[in-house]
Amino acid sequence: MKALVLAGGSGTRLRPITHTAAKQLVPIANRPILFWALDSIAEAGIREVGMIVGHTKDEVRAAVGDGSAFGLSVTYLEQPQPLGLAHAVSVARDWLGDDDFCMYLGDNVLLGGVAPFVERFGRPGRSEDALVLLAKVDDPTRFGVAEFDTEGRLVRLVEKPSVPPSDLALVGVYFFSPAVHDAISQIRPSARGELEITDAIDALITSGRIVDALAVDGFWKDLGDPEALLAGNRFMLLGIEGSVEGTVVDSSVDGPVVVEPGAVVERTVVRGPATIGRGARIVDAYVGPFSAIGPDCELRATEIQNSIVLAGARIDGVGPLDGCIIGRSAVVERRGHLPRATSVVVGDHSRLELA
Ligand code: TTP
Repeated sequence: MKALVLAGGSGTRLRPITHTAAKQLVPIANRPILFWALDSIAEAGIREVGMIVGHTKDEVRAAVGDGSAFGLSVTYLEQPQPLGLAHAVSVARDWLGDDDFCMYLGDNVLLGGVAPFVERFGRPGRSEDALVLLAKVDDPTRFGVAEFDTEGRLVRLVEKPSVPPSDLALVGVYFFSPAVHDAISQIRPSARGELEITDAIDALITSGRIVDALAVDGFWKDLGDPEALLAGNRFMLLGIEGSVEGTVVDSSVDGPVVVEPGAVVERTVVRGPATIGRGARIVDAYVGPFSAIGPDCELRATEIQNSIVLAGARIDGVGPLDGCIIGRSAVVERRGHLPRATSVVVGDHSRLELA
């Protein structure tokens, strides 16, 4: 079985971060979202990965390389425009050949991995042409949602329904036989102009193919918007083991806390779970639970919790900060002169909630 990982797209919901960075490379617990996905794929015994890339292709390629760091062999497949998940499969048509494949959306995390599903879909004599994974969600109108008949068989998938037929949403990990390519050739772009994978799966069902559906019980999240990203960060931080390899001076460090090599923590209280990246400098600060402070950041006289701070950002004299996502090399500082007003240079599509 091959894996097709989707790392293109436009990432509009995560602007402004995605104006300058690939969504899939935004870190949770100080590690790119995409890396967690690649780990799962490698753990399941898959070796060949086709990586769909779009306008952020150079960045994705620089981060993932040939895949050998993950025990994978990665081939890059360029999607000229993000025309939908099924369109991404059609871009990969030749590379996929006649193989079964696992399609993994590169901005999704699925805890517990994909190994049991790879085993189920890869079993000899299987009669299904697709396996979809489902998870209960609070707001099904934002997802692809499954509809079942009275005998519990999957009969239809509806993309972002105004009246959801169930509260079971499609998780961003799918398994297909090559029959999906025929199904994709039959569908047309949806009202939002995309070739939808839900339509392709419906086409499989309509043509009499068997589509298996399984509920996942572990943590799953599509990390496409800021709230989900922070939730994913919290969840991944819950799994970390503390290790202090950097320098900690006159500070108190409680709970699972990672201080990477080269980081300096001085006169600071750190309450885990939290992680502080290599080369970061944290002085006279409070770093509270669920904080992921990226490499080479500088925090002074700052209180922060439940936040993601990307590499090289500087925060000085502000806080308490909660639920923040602060971009690479961004500066947030207290003004040291009059008038005591708030002064901001905010990027396009940014969002500020001032206390
Ligand atoms: P989405 O989150 O559905 O789309 P998006 O990345 O364009 O984000 P937004 O809605 O905020 O604008 O995509 C899911 C994953 O699939 C994500 O990793 C991007 C990737 N993708 C592609 O590679 N090609 C595509 O054509 C689309 C639509 C998504």
